Amino acid sequence: MNLFDVYPLYEVTPSKAKDVFVFDENQNKYLDLYGGHAVISIGHGNKYYIKSIVDQINKIGFYSNAIKNPLQNELAVKLANASNCNNYSLFMCSSGAEANENAIKLASFYNNKSRIISFKNAFHGRTSAAVAATDNPNIVAPINSQQKVTFLPFNEIDKVKIELEKNDVSSVIFESIQGVGGLDQPDEEFINNLYKLCKKYDVCLIADEVQSGFGRSGDFFGFQKFKIAPDIITLAKGMGNGFPVGGVLINRKIKPKYGMLGTTYGGNHLACAASLSVLHQIKENNLMENAKVVGDYFINKAKKIDKIKNVKGRGLMLGLEFNFEVAELRKKLIYDHKIFTGGSSNKKLIRILPPLTIKKEHIDIFFKALKIELKKH
Ligand SMILES: Cc1ncc(COP(=O)(O)O)c(C=O)c1O
Repeated sequence: MNLFDVYPLYEVTPSKAKDVFVFDENQNKYLDLYGGHAVISIGHGNKYYIKSIVDQINKIGFYSNAIKNPLQNELAVKLANASNCNNYSLFMCSSGAEANENAIKLASFYNNKSRIISFKNAFHGRTSAAVAATDNPNIVAPINSQQKVTFLPFNEIDKVKIELEKNDVSSVIFESIQGVGGLDQPDEEFINNLYKLCKKYDVCLIADEVQSGFGRSGDFFGFQKFKIAPDIITLAKGMGNGFPVGGVLINRKIKPKYGMLGTTYGGNHLACAASLSVLHQIKENNLMENAKVVGDYFINKAKKIDKIKNVKGRGLMLGLEFNFEVAELRKKLIYDHKIFTGGSSNKKLIRILPPLTIKKEHIDIFFKALKIELKKH
């Protein structure tokens, strides 16, 4: 059997990894500025993380959500402490799309409405409602397009108001820093007004923190730069440092009912052990502070390079925009300089999503390589 061919692949086969480096089968060492798509938060091969997962599987790795799992309760408490989000309950699942799917569904259960407002260039995943709320017609199948979604631009509050006044909107979903879409961020004033409007019309505001959450922005959640308390917050990626785990933080005003949500794998013992150890290591190693400091260092260096048209994002969720398409440049960085970077739907933008353990000296390695390549442009 062959693989269903949906991924254009680079000719590299990682076989081991340590902190911010990935090694291929020939022992070539690559600097990881991609973090396996913003997933690696506490670094590859973190010893505490490995021990937590191994210890857990030696006890029990999995059992059904129909039976008590105190690790989920422990995670809920520690997540509230780490994020300062106290008025929420936790529902665990296994991926970002699943988190958003559940969030959109919860909103609809709550207010009995069904239209979603999403934003230009948004990416929320590939399942039914999540993909419909994703601004990319190429990945929306006819069955998904039955969902009612309206896409609006960021920062035009009047357009949101016109839609909410129609009284059929269930949720507004947004990324505080867009990931796949290319690192655009909504203005503070827009988000503060959006929050007020959602309250006024009893529309659920969903913060998709799947990529920007778990410390990557320098705050625990990217939306914490604003003065808002979203009704629902979705998590995944950095939450498990590679272990597939997702979560939904649900404001206590949304009341649970038995059977309302459910999953076989979500919140299993291993997922909880992974997530608990990620939280522990973020705190122990001051990784949110590191994301801020090293992110600022990166931004300052990038701003000194004329050929970079625009530096986007914050913390360790960054983008470099050029006035040419970057596919070839990214290939050169991988094959000639052994540096992984990310792409986005903006073909002129390189995405930088390293493990949050990265240091300034690693950023210097990147800029040295980038300058060599930019001389050729
Ligand atoms: C902001 C955002 N939401 C949702 C998703 C979907 O997550 P997953 O691939 O785990 O389903 C992604 C994935 O890139 C994302 O960046």
